Amino acid sequence: MKYQNTTAFPPEFLWGASTSAYQVEGATAEDGKGPSVVDTLPHRPHDVADFTVASDHYHRYAEDVALFAELGMRAYRFSIAWTRIIPDGDGEINPAGLAFYHHLIDELRAKGIEPIVTLYHFDLPAALDERGGWSDRATIDAFERYARIVFAEFGGKVRYWLTVNEQNMMVLHGKAIGTTGRSGDTDQKTIYQQNHHMFLAQARAMSACHEMLPEAKIGPAPNIVSVYAATCDPDDVIAADDWDAIRNLMYLDVPARGSYHPLAWSYLTERGLQPELGEDDLAILASAKPDFLAFNYYSTQTVGASRGDASDVQIRGGDQQIVRGEVGLYRAVKNDNLPTNAFGWEIDPTGLRTTLRRMWDRYRLPLIITENGLGAFDELVNGRVHDDYRIDYLRRHIEQIRLALADGVMVFGYCPWTAIDLVSTHQGIGKRYGFVYVNRDENDLKDLARIRKDSFYWYQQVIASHGDDLG
Ligand code: BG6
Repeated sequence: MKYQNTTAFPPEFLWGASTSAYQVEGATAEDGKGPSVVDTLPHRPHDVADFTVASDHYHRYAEDVALFAELGMRAYRFSIAWTRIIPDGDGEINPAGLAFYHHLIDELRAKGIEPIVTLYHFDLPAALDERGGWSDRATIDAFERYARIVFAEFGGKVRYWLTVNEQNMMVLHGKAIGTTGRSGDTDQKTIYQQNHHMFLAQARAMSACHEMLPEAKIGPAPNIVSVYAATCDPDDVIAADDWDAIRNLMYLDVPARGSYHPLAWSYLTERGLQPELGEDDLAILASAKPDFLAFNYYSTQTVGASRGDASDVQIRGGDQQIVRGEVGLYRAVKNDNLPTNAFGWEIDPTGLRTTLRRMWDRYRLPLIITENGLGAFDELVNGRVHDDYRIDYLRRHIEQIRLALADGVMVFGYCPWTAIDLVSTHQGIGKRYGFVYVNRDENDLKDLARIRKDSFYWYQQVIASHGDDLG
C-alpha cells in the first residue's frame, strides 16, 4: 500500500546500534578471560585480522560510550563474553569479567543509554567445546548456569536481554563464520542435535529470566530474511516456503510457539536429521515464552524449485546472506531486481518491510531489529570517511521501518550493525560497518584512534529528529 501519510516513530522507539563482544573487545586473554571457539579459529586466513585486539573496546569502552552518547544512541546492543564471566564455561566465576561489564553498563546508564544484552554471540567457551560443545547436554546446564549468574549480577540494571545470536547461522553456516569449534567437519545429524540443545538452552534461559527478573524482557535474535519465489510457478513457491521454514521459521517457531515448525520437522525427518528428544524436552520448549522477537536483517533470498541435481547448489559454502541451494529442496536464484554490496550480499530495503510484516502477522510479538547495515571498504582520507553509500543504505531501510509502522507492525527499536568498526566474522576489519572508524588495518594496529564517519553525523541527526529527518 502507498500511504499519503506515514506514521511517526513511537516516542519510546529505541534508536541504537550493535556490536558483539568477540568482534569489538579484543583483550582475548586478559584479566582471566578464557578462550572461546572464535579465538582459535583453525581455518582463519592469515591475511585478515584476528580477534586478539579487535577494536580494543575492552580498554577504550569509556571513550566509546562517550561517542555513543554524542551520537545520541538511546540503546546499545552488545554481548557478554561467556568466557570473561566463566573462563572454562562452567567452573569458577571471574570477578574481573564481572567488573568489566559492570563498568560498561554503568557508563551506559550514566549517559542514558539502554543496554540490550546478548548472552551468547558465537563465542562458545573452548573448554566446553573440548568436552563436546553443543553435542553434550551438559552444555545446556552450563548455559543456564551462566545465564543465571549474569541475570543475578546485572539484572538490576539491564531490562532487555537476547538469548542466542543467529542460532540459524551457526547451524547453516557455522563453518563460514567460524563457530563450529572442534566439530568443524561434523555431519548434519550432529549439527541438528546441537541445534536442538541450543533451543533447550535458550528456553531454559528465558524461563530463568522470567523467574528471576519479572520486570525484564527477553527474546531470541535469529537472522531473518524474507524468502521470495523466483517465479509464480507453484513449484518455485513450494521451494520458497520450504526454505523459509528451514532457514527462518524453525528459529522463530520454537521460541515463540514452543514447538518445531511442521515443515522444518518434516525436512529433518525425511533426511534422517531429526534430533533425539529427551523425555521433558518438548515441555521445556513449550513452557518458555519470549517477550519480543529480535532479528538481524541484511538481505532477502530468492529461490526456485530444485532440479534434483548438483546444479541446485550454485555456491559452495555460502555465508549468512549468500544462499547456496540444496539438492531436492531448493535452488539459489539471483534476484535481478536487487543490487549487491561489495561482498555479494543483495540489498533489499523493501524486504525489511516485508520481513517485519510477515513476522508480525505470524507471531504478534513486538519486534526489534538488532542488526542491519552495510559492510564496505571505507577509506580514511585526510581524517574523514565519506561513507555516503552507508547513509543511503540505512536511510532506505529506516524509510521501510516507518512504512511497516504504518502497516500496523509493532517495531520498538532499530540497532544497526555497528556502533563502531569491528572485525567481521570471516572477512577481517577491512569489511567495515561502523558509524565510528577505528584506525587500524588487518595486520597493522596503528593508533586505533576513533574517527567519526559522515554516517555518524547523519545518524545523529536522524536520532535527534526521531526519524523525521533522514537527510
Ligand atoms: C551477523 C552477525 O551474521 O552479521 C555478526 O551476527 C556479523 O556477528 C554480521 O558480524 C555481519 O557479518 P560479517 O560476516 O560481515 O561480519
